[in-house]
Amino acid sequence: MLNDLASLLLQIEESLKQHLPTNSQIAQPMLEAMNYAVMGGGKRLRPMLVCAGSEAFGGDYKSALPAGCAFEFIHAYSLIHDDLPAMDDDDLRHGRASTHVAFGEANAILAGDSLHSLAFQSISEAANISPTSKLRIINLLSKAAGWHGMSGGQCLDIEAEGKLLTLAELKMLHAAKTGALIKSALEVGALCAEADTTSTAYKAISEFGAKIGLAFQIVDDILDVTQTSETLGKPAGSDEGLNKNTFPRLLGLDESKNKAEDLLQEAMALLEQNNLKTPLLEALANRAVHRTF
Ligand code: IPE
Ligand code: IPE
Ligand code: MG
Ligand code: MG
Ligand code: MG
Repeated sequence: MLNDLASLLLQIEESLKQHLPTNSQIAQPMLEAMNYAVMGGGKRLRPMLVCAGSEAFGGDYKSALPAGCAFEFIHAYSLIHDDLPAMDDDDLRHGRASTHVAFGEANAILAGDSLHSLAFQSISEAANISPTSKLRIINLLSKAAGWHGMSGGQCLDIEAEGKLLTLAELKMLHAAKTGALIKSALEVGALCAEADTTSTAYKAISEFGAKIGLAFQIVDDILDVTQTSETLGKPAGSDEGLNKNTFPRLLGLDESKNKAEDLLQEAMALLEQNNLKTPLLEALANRAVHRTF
C-alpha cells in the first residue's frame, strides 16, 4: 500500500509517458502537441484519485494506472480546448504557452481529439482489469466526459457568460464541468478493485467524489481572483475578464471559502463513516481544497 502522494505521482508520470505515442509517419506535429499538453505539468489529481480509490477498495494501485492515465488524457484534452480562442482564450497553461499558442489551433484541436480517443484505448488495453470492469469503466468515463458531464458543463459555462446564474444553476455547472470527472475517477478506482457497485461503500466513495469535485472547482474560482498568474501558471483574473459565473462572484470570497471547507469536512466524514479512510484519500481531499495553484 502506498502512503505518500510523491511516490504515486512518480508512477503516474512514468505511466503517462509510456501510454503516449511519440512517433508517427502521418501526424508528428499533433503527437508533439499531445506530449506537450500532457507532460507539461499539472497536479495529476484525477489519476491519483483513481489509484487511491482502488486502494481504498483493496485493489492494487498499479492495476489502476492505465485507467488513471485515461482520466488525465481526458483532462488534458479538456484544458487544450478550454484555452482555445473560441472558449476561454487563455495563452498560458502550466507556466508556459498554451498548446494552441505553441502548436497552432488546428494541431491543438486535433491533439485534444486524439487524447480523447487515447483515453478509451488505454482502458481497453489495460492488463489487469476484467473485461466486465473495463466495459463499466468505459461507460462511466464516457458519461463523465460527455454531454451531461465535462463537455456539457463547458457548454453551460460558455453559454452563461455575461448572465447571472442562480446558486443552484452554478452548482449544476460545476458538478458537470469539473465534478463529473472527479467523482467518476473515484468510482472507476473502486471498479478497478472489482467493487460491488450496489454497496454502501461504493455509494459513499461516489458521494465523497461529488463533494470533493465541487469543492475543487470552488477553490479554482477562488484562486482565479486571489493568486497571481505566476503562481497559478495560468492567467489570473480570467473569469472576471470573461464575465464567468463563479462562486466568489455569487457568494463573495469568504462565503465561498467556507463552502469549500464545509464540503471538505463532509467528504472526510463520509470516509470515516464508511471505513474508507486511507492516508492517500485523506491527503488528496486536503490537497484538492488547501492549495495555492
Ligand atoms: C483545472 O484543473 C481545470 C479545472 C477543472 C478546474 P486542474 O487544476 O486539476 O489542472 P492541472 O492539470 O492540475 O493544471
Ligand atoms: C475548466 O474550468 C474546466 C474544464 C473542464 C477544463 P476553468 O476554465 O475554470 O479552468 P481553468 O481555470 O482555465 O484551468
Ligand atoms: Mg473554462
Ligand atoms: Mg479556463
Ligand atoms: Mg478556472
